[in-house]
Amino acid sequence: MEVKKNFWKNKKVLITGNLGFKGSWLCLQLSFFNAKVFGLDNESTNSSLITKKSLKKYVKNQYKCDIRDLKKLNSIVSKVRPNIIIHMAAQSIVISGLENPILTLDVNIIGTGNVIESARNNSSIKSILIVTSDKVYENNEKNKKFMENNRLGGDDPYSASKACAEIISKSYSSSYFKKQHPNLATARAGNVIGGGDISSNRLVPDIYRSIVQKKKLKIRNKNHIRPWQHVLDCNNGYMMLIEKLNNHRKYSGAWNFSSNNSDYTVKKICEEFSKNISFKYIYSVSKHKEKKLLKLNSNKSKHFLSWKTKLSFYKMIKLTGEWYKKYLNGEDPDLISIDQINKYYLTK
Ligand SMILES: NC(=O)c1ccc[n+]([C@@H]2O[C@H](COP(=O)([O-])OP(=O)(O)OC[C@H]3O[C@@H](n4cnc5c(N)ncnc54)[C@H](O)[C@@H]3O)[C@@H](O)[C@H]2O)c1
Repeated sequence: MEVKKNFWKNKKVLITGNLGFKGSWLCLQLSFFNAKVFGLDNESTNSSLITKKSLKKYVKNQYKCDIRDLKKLNSIVSKVRPNIIIHMAAQSIVISGLENPILTLDVNIIGTGNVIESARNNSSIKSILIVTSDKVYENNEKNKKFMENNRLGGDDPYSASKACAEIISKSYSSSYFKKQHPNLATARAGNVIGGGDISSNRLVPDIYRSIVQKKKLKIRNKNHIRPWQHVLDCNNGYMMLIEKLNNHRKYSGAWNFSSNNSDYTVKKICEEFSKNISFKYIYSVSKHKEKKLLKLNSNKSKHFLSWKTKLSFYKMIKLTGEWYKKYLNGEDPDLISIDQINKYYLTK
């Protein structure tokens, strides 16, 4: 199954956090399917090399807004009157959450509540997708693949904030959206990689920075295992879920998105990455405690959405390496991405 061109044509989609890594790719993917994309971001992190300037052609209107400001959020949503909201804005980094827990809780919990509340106040919205994380589960590191009905947890502020976003989403669905729109779903995706990400304390952006700064990179947690996937596959899953959710309330609820065969160590990613783009690294010890093992079971998305990752582990690393190499050679970030999107959708 593929994304349906007819569904997205002229749909008004508001993406929060659209200037971030995943959001900037999503703007381009939705434009590829002729959706009308609107962006909302407080521009606090500058975490993508696909910038506001390079997205200008693809985003109808870009709004600068902090999702903690409900009044402003409400007024933007009433003005845009989107059919769909995809909520991605967040403090998205585990280590930043440990260093600044209150900001993380404020943005990820209150901010998410505000986004859903603004959707409740606006009848144009048929569906809303809340992007949380694979870190929402109570993780005892027992080598199990988490399923959507497993217990929520969160041993660090970021994970806790995303688990709270799940609970808030469910409470709105139960209290307000049982019989009226919007239909609401949450998406729990594993570690996403792809070109353009320059967030702090993430593996691929750290590799990119070490190349630019000509420095040897210290890599922490080399034996940690994560469910890696490419940003195109992840966003594709969100889009396929929304296509169903928009017409049927039964698709409300939580959905995992991860590759079935990309549970690899950080060490494996580094080794594979260094075959595609040259960088120097040594392994080091982290001062922060992070979960060693995290795996997701995405059978629900596979069965009910017919979604699966299209890119193999090796292809995902290759595409990502190529993206940064081209960027470092002076190519346009949006054009590099558009070219990868074309190939992704047009290659069977
Ligand atoms: N990248 C991953 O590997 C990954 C994995 C699982 C879940 N997620 C989740 O997916 C979503 C997108 O991730 P990403 O990697 O693109 O994150 P990102 O940090 O690159 O982007 C987040 C965007 O949100 C904006 N933002 C932050 N605080 C805001 C606020 N108060 N008001 C408005 N905008 C604000 C930032 O400016 C940024 O553009 C996040 O919710 C994240 O938690 C990401």
